[in-house]
Amino acid sequence: MSDSKKREIGAGFSRRGFLKGAIAGAGVAAFGLREAAAQMLQGPSAQPVRGWGVPPGLVRLSGNEMPIGPSPRAVEAIMKVLYSFNRYGRVSEIYEKVTRMHGLPVPDMSNVPFGGPPNSWVTFGAGSSEVLFAAASAFLRDGGETIEATPGYGNISEMGVGFGAKPVFVPVRSDFSHDLPAMKKAINSNTKMIILTSPGNPTGVLIPYEELKAFVASIPPEIIVFSDEAYIDFARSPEDRIGAAPLIKDHPNLIVARTFSKIYGMAGLGIGYGLAQPAMIKTLNLNKGGRVNMLSLHAANAALDDHDYIAYAREVTSNGKEFFAEKFKEMGLEYVPSESSFMLVNIKKDADEVCRKLEQEYRVIVGNGNARWGMKTWLRVTAGLPEENEAFMAALQKVLVSS
Ligand SMILES: Cc1ncc(COP(=O)(O)O)c(C=O)c1O
Repeated sequence: MSDSKKREIGAGFSRRGFLKGAIAGAGVAAFGLREAAAQMLQGPSAQPVRGWGVPPGLVRLSGNEMPIGPSPRAVEAIMKVLYSFNRYGRVSEIYEKVTRMHGLPVPDMSNVPFGGPPNSWVTFGAGSSEVLFAAASAFLRDGGETIEATPGYGNISEMGVGFGAKPVFVPVRSDFSHDLPAMKKAINSNTKMIILTSPGNPTGVLIPYEELKAFVASIPPEIIVFSDEAYIDFARSPEDRIGAAPLIKDHPNLIVARTFSKIYGMAGLGIGYGLAQPAMIKTLNLNKGGRVNMLSLHAANAALDDHDYIAYAREVTSNGKEFFAEKFKEMGLEYVPSESSFMLVNIKKDADEVCRKLEQEYRVIVGNGNARWGMKTWLRVTAGLPEENEAFMAALQKVLVSS
């Protein structure tokens, strides 16, 4: 990608120029409101932005968010519909686009009702979190057990506890990969759902396709297999980014979750989706609470086509991880090679104290492995912009000397 294209996406992106075009395109009459929207998007001052979406001087590498700012195409799509959200919006074409992207059968798109086409293989949620919730709600309300790797994301297992299901956690192997044989052994007559996260959070380790395929095929059909692929778009090899979608046709018990929060840079908009056979999609739809807002749907629909943005997001993340790996090696710190947008590192010091100092003394926020997973000396750090990564590393070096 050309440097000028990168500048358009990243810090050099001219919001003022873009807004002129987008607002003119919207063709609306409410001039005062348009002015207000333009002011809002230009930000409070012309100060150089240190990190997109955070106050200057704050380095936030804790939430696995996309650091390069949103996709200009997504912003433009929102601007174009900004004066029509008095209506219940629908974006039928996104169903077809996503289904095709994953090689699944495209449903009849001739007359799409509000909630999506009949016999759809995809359902949208308020973040992929809503898809995770729908699965927990549909299958864990009568108790039973879930099986999930630990350390892991753990959200569905947690929701299951709320519904009365018992979580069974299976430790990852020494290389932090899912121990699929041990997860299979943990199955008993109470097992309702097996949750896989590929790449894992916080591990960043991917489940190779052949292993995944054999595993899914070996699970009794009455047990749901949930494959959470929030970070799979960051995998280095294009084959690894395909994930479990091709297995859906043969496995009615398989649900795959994807999100626009990570590589598509839309965490604050809250939109993700689930893929499964139509009968399973119907069940998930009956267990969703709300409705994805129309701005998110339009933005997601546009972001899917923003291949430059996606490539740049992957490049920035990959460069960030390489930088981390190089520095951690120099510092003699163990880290987990990651196929995701973050990296797990053993700082060999108390993670609570290091995180506190990083935040209080240097305004750097990273994931505390102890707080969430009981990993007493581990941090999970999201790859940020180069200047954010450097600020984190400089602060970490100082904190480790003083701790
Ligand atoms: C593994 C994993 N799954 C799902 C989610 C939920 O993402 P969202 O609801 O923003 O799509 C996250 C968020 O960080 C995650 O790390």
